[in-house]
Amino acid sequence: MDWEVRRFAEIDSTNRYLLDEARRGAPDGLVAVADHQTAGRGRLGRSWEAPPGSSLLVSVLLRPRLPVERLHLVTAALAVAAAGACGAVSDVRPGIKWPNDLVAGPAGAEAKLAGVLAEAELPALVAGIGVNVAWAPPGATCLGPGVDRDALLDGFLSRLGGLLDAGDWAAVASAHRRLCLTIGRRVRVDLADETFTGTAADVDDDGRLLVDVGACIRTVSAGDVVHLRPVD
Ligand code: BTN
Repeated sequence: MDWEVRRFAEIDSTNRYLLDEARRGAPDGLVAVADHQTAGRGRLGRSWEAPPGSSLLVSVLLRPRLPVERLHLVTAALAVAAAGACGAVSDVRPGIKWPNDLVAGPAGAEAKLAGVLAEAELPALVAGIGVNVAWAPPGATCLGPGVDRDALLDGFLSRLGGLLDAGDWAAVASAHRRLCLTIGRRVRVDLADETFTGTAADVDDDGRLLVDVGACIRTVSAGDVVHLRPVD
């Protein structure tokens, strides 16, 4: 992948910027990275806020040749690439909380380190990640002081480029599954119109979460998952 990186001291949202570029026909591989976002977007309509210079805030514009139902694998590739890059520039070895949050910390009490948001402008897909580098909001965690955001960006883009160029989506799915700390955990799944609990049994080859609810296995392709303590 030939990345073209555009840097911003301040922007409303790197995802918004690339979605507009996608509508204008910008090619695969355009990257937007910002020191600060004034209207950073999070999943499920939430906002994503961080003080200037404290985080890696980056989005990529991709035109993946994948059926819509397999596009989860692109965001999975972002999470896998970011986890590897974090491990290369710090002592933190993140895991993944399904679908694509990076988490770190003591086993069973991991906190959020990074989040991924994908937005489609089909056939383009814009996927952005925010990694807490030198600051974390309450209840979350960060890589720690002294981590070089440029080295983190380079490591992330080179790993992501390698995964996308290989086009081996089965390998992406298995790397994502290997890092996924949700598997085996008691979970609460919050869907738009329903909430249920169960045990996360696996992640399938398209990146969907399989939850054992006792009577059957439920397949979750989008939603919010909360890790429960075993007693909950
Ligand atoms: C989440 O809610 O966990 C996803 C957060 C995604 C934040 C990143 S920061 C870079 C990119 N631009 C945005 O506006 N959001 C994503």
